[in-house]
Amino acid sequence: MSKGKFITIEGCEGVGKTTQVDLLKQAFAGREDVLFLREPGGTAISEQIRRIILDVKNEGMSGICEVLLYSASRAQLVEEVIKPALREGKTVICDRFTDSTLAYQGYARGLGADMVETLSDIACGGLKPDLTVFLDLDPVSAFKRKGGADSKDRLEQAGIQFHAKVYEGYKRIAERYPERVACVPAGEGAQRVHELVMQLLKERGAI
Ligand code: TMP
Repeated sequence: MSKGKFITIEGCEGVGKTTQVDLLKQAFAGREDVLFLREPGGTAISEQIRRIILDVKNEGMSGICEVLLYSASRAQLVEEVIKPALREGKTVICDRFTDSTLAYQGYARGLGADMVETLSDIACGGLKPDLTVFLDLDPVSAFKRKGGADSKDRLEQAGIQFHAKVYEGYKRIAERYPERVACVPAGEGAQRVHELVMQLLKERGAI
């Protein structure tokens, strides 16, 4: 059976991830063999879980509760959408995936990489990205460019020290999985970063 490529896009808040995903959507407009998803979300169940996770009213949520909710949302997305699409030979491009959990919950919340990786393996049934594009920009520069944190997003409200740890987490992940994770400098203009991303996808035979 043919197997499609699974590509994930990762990075800290404000690095221009949404803009880059939008530019990729434009680049692949009309391509029915390319599927775009975002995490947490992407299925009716996963979108409901997303609302609980991001709701600023849930500031009392424990780290374990948070990581289990992310994993639950992902488990549904993988079973319902990602695995069937890859089996059909489609290219799946996902805005955030297991590396977000590793960076945010594993490293920044301090739950530990081993526990998060074990949970991710369970949630994904062993599925791993073929290529992860890490949009590399430190959080101080990223928030400056973004004009501050979103007051309606609980995770964005977590403070600069938290986001510095997220960034550190991503750097460690990139060091640990150099074959899979490619760092793209994200401090330049959106169009230049898009060119770098497209070049990378071509080089890696991902598109
Ligand atoms: P977004 O800003 O890309 O929409 O992502 C939503 C927030 O969820 C963002 O602050 C990152 C966070 N997040 C985690 O903390 N762990 C995860 O596993 C995922 C997928 C996202």
